[in-house]
Amino acid sequence: MSIGKNIAHDSSIGHVTGKSIFIDDRAAIQGELQVGVVGAPVAAGRLKQVNTRRAELIPGVVGIFTAKDLHHNQWGTIIKHQPILVEDKIGYMHEPTVVVAAETREALTKALRVIEIECEEGKPVFTIDEAIAKEDFLYEATPFVQGDVEQALKTADHRLKQSFECGGQEHFYLESQATVAIPLENGQMEIHSSSQHPTETQHVVAHALGLPYHYVTCTVKRMGGGFGGKESQAAPFAAMAAMVAAKFNRPARLILSKDDDMQMTGKRHPFKNFYEVGFTKEGMITALKADLYSDAGAYADLSSSIMERAMFHIDSAYYVENVLITGRCCKTNHHSNTAFRGFGGPQGAITMEALIEDIAKVVGKDPAEVRRLNLYGKDVRNRTPYGQIIDHNPLPEMTDRILSESEYARLRSEVDAFNAKKCGKVRGLALSYTKFGIAFTAKFLNQGNALVNVHLDGTVQASTGATEMGQGVNTKIQQVIAHAFGIPPKDVQLMPTSTDKNHNTSPTAASSGSDINSAAALMACDKIKRRLQILLHKFWNGETFDDVKEIELDFEGDLDHIEFIDEKIIDTKTKKELPFKEAITMAYLNRISLGGYAFFKTENLGFDKKKCEGRAFNYFTNGAAVSMVEIDEYTGEMKVLMTRILMDLGRPLNPGIDRGQVTGAFIQGMGWVTHESLVYSDKGVLLSHSPTTYKIPNIQDTPREFVVDFIENNENKQAVHRSKAVGEPPFLLGGAVFCAIKDAIGYRTANNKISSPATNERILMALSE
Ligand code: MTE
Ligand code: HPA
Ligand code: MOS
Repeated sequence: MSIGKNIAHDSSIGHVTGKSIFIDDRAAIQGELQVGVVGAPVAAGRLKQVNTRRAELIPGVVGIFTAKDLHHNQWGTIIKHQPILVEDKIGYMHEPTVVVAAETREALTKALRVIEIECEEGKPVFTIDEAIAKEDFLYEATPFVQGDVEQALKTADHRLKQSFECGGQEHFYLESQATVAIPLENGQMEIHSSSQHPTETQHVVAHALGLPYHYVTCTVKRMGGGFGGKESQAAPFAAMAAMVAAKFNRPARLILSKDDDMQMTGKRHPFKNFYEVGFTKEGMITALKADLYSDAGAYADLSSSIMERAMFHIDSAYYVENVLITGRCCKTNHHSNTAFRGFGGPQGAITMEALIEDIAKVVGKDPAEVRRLNLYGKDVRNRTPYGQIIDHNPLPEMTDRILSESEYARLRSEVDAFNAKKCGKVRGLALSYTKFGIAFTAKFLNQGNALVNVHLDGTVQASTGATEMGQGVNTKIQQVIAHAFGIPPKDVQLMPTSTDKNHNTSPTAASSGSDINSAAALMACDKIKRRLQILLHKFWNGETFDDVKEIELDFEGDLDHIEFIDEKIIDTKTKKELPFKEAITMAYLNRISLGGYAFFKTENLGFDKKKCEGRAFNYFTNGAAVSMVEIDEYTGEMKVLMTRILMDLGRPLNPGIDRGQVTGAFIQGMGWVTHESLVYSDKGVLLSHSPTTYKIPNIQDTPREFVVDFIENNENKQAVHRSKAVGEPPFLLGGAVFCAIKDAIGYRTANNKISSPATNERILMALSE
């Protein structure tokens, strides 16, 4: 049994010993060129001229390229309108404009510094407010409407009309965007990329070079982190390297420096949400009218889907009967913002969680009580603003459990007593939730395929469309396959993801990499197992099976009593058994296929995009968190004293890996709402473009007391072995830290207002309001 066990991550030893191979660890191939990019020097305007004279004089520089050197220069996951290299109009500061190829990195670095780009400077737009004033939107979503929001607002005991802002976030993956492109015979191209989406990378490279798709293969061994930042944005950089490889018929390597990566690539979307809420004297929400605006940056990228996921998650975990929710993506002169863990969900949910704090202040209740009051019910009050009925809702029990285990009531009186002392420090406490919808909201993406090969020594190699970015998807698929064949996980190897083995794959995203790809792998295993079952059934019955057409066509009926356990195949009725390896040899000698290929699609998704109603998600992954913070009132410095998390992950395939995902996602979410702050100059230069100026959480920032626990939930029949997706959902629990900060501020000021990120500076300013 390898399901539900803490099998070590398949790269754990490699990562800690430094032996894991990332793109730039790949040994140089003879003749390899180094590729770099120069970005635009203005945030808006037109490209006039590129002066390459000084760069050309540098020994070792072999080529300098611009948009006209590409066969096709437009790309984009949803709308193909983003140039790979600036052609004319400049969309944002540092937008890739010139590609340089050199013999060495030294020559490349020198050349990148002396390329001069002349532009006609335009007037940039940097804020959501400016874009709203100009009505410059890249996308307007179909609104979610339910009930009669105007009437409900009119009759509500209380109303609040305000706005909430949250900032962007740098992905801060440790491996920058990176590609090695290797030209093959007849113009074919082999791409090794740090990409969450090998299929899109294949397509973008093919378009850029004018090749049919079957001339391009994209392989991804692993990423040094992706977090959504390599879902779409790995592709254009792969195209730049491929262009150089094609021009010179030499391998080409493009590895962005951390600074270039941070300045050239998109980040989490900042949002500004305007809303009006109606609620009863008790704090029960009766109406929510919300207009969501995101800063999409210069191009569409995935912004429309991200906006929709924000709208899908503005309910957080609460039932609201009357809603009107709109969403618009603002066009600004920022880097094109993109997928980031939670994919808009956090920006929606935190708006609601912050709002609950405000409602509690109005009605004079503990926010946890207001949360409990508004929480989705089990059989009543269980319809989302988009008409999906929530079944198997564990949040009510989870609330009871986390409030009791965290001793919330005791903590609250301690916080009250501590704050009454006025010792220069103020504490805050909050409960918050995650109820994250699992499925790509673009229905067609909920598909995958897998290839499983059993070798003659009984070991297995498997390939799927899932890409490994640290989240452990390979290990989970390995466990599912090992379990299916009854063999040890060490006998199963997940192979690099490659478009020549798995075609038309979806990005590894939406937390559904494991759900989709392990389901496909399991189906492929079942096909091989069925052949082996028939073979042994016939063998044990003394029947011959020489030269049957296709063995699976040769027998009908149930053979489930022939099981795969402990490296043996056992007929549980007759007690006959054969070692797995011997059965494999027998199958081979009898010319029976030991390879399996399968296609999987998620069933029962039915969201009507026109009506904005229906089953958008396969199921929800739920969680709750309680956090306590302490703020130094003289400096604004904030520490998280305690966090307790309770997650519903169904029956985890690998509880250890899932614990890592919960911990990491929470800390990343906490970073987003606290210290991570993107700062730009008035010209649009990202000033926080390196580890010295952009503060991600470190070990000092983790909660002093940090407990992560799971509930037992055996009900989720929607995913493999009743597991649940884990990658993004706990990110939203970072909201508990934000709400605890708001709570603390509320002890000292009449107002508890603060926007996200609640940096130390902002906290200090809020306290002096
Ligand atoms: N965990 C690690 N270590 N590194 C990552 O880049 N990405 C997150 C999450 N966990 C990420 C991670 C994101 S954004 C997603 S969508 C999921 O992993 C993707 O993987 P899965 O679908 O296999 O869970
Ligand atoms: N989540 C994450 N990534 C995506 C999605 C989604 O819903 N749709 C397209 N890419
Ligand atoms: Mo994750 S943002 O869906 O790559």
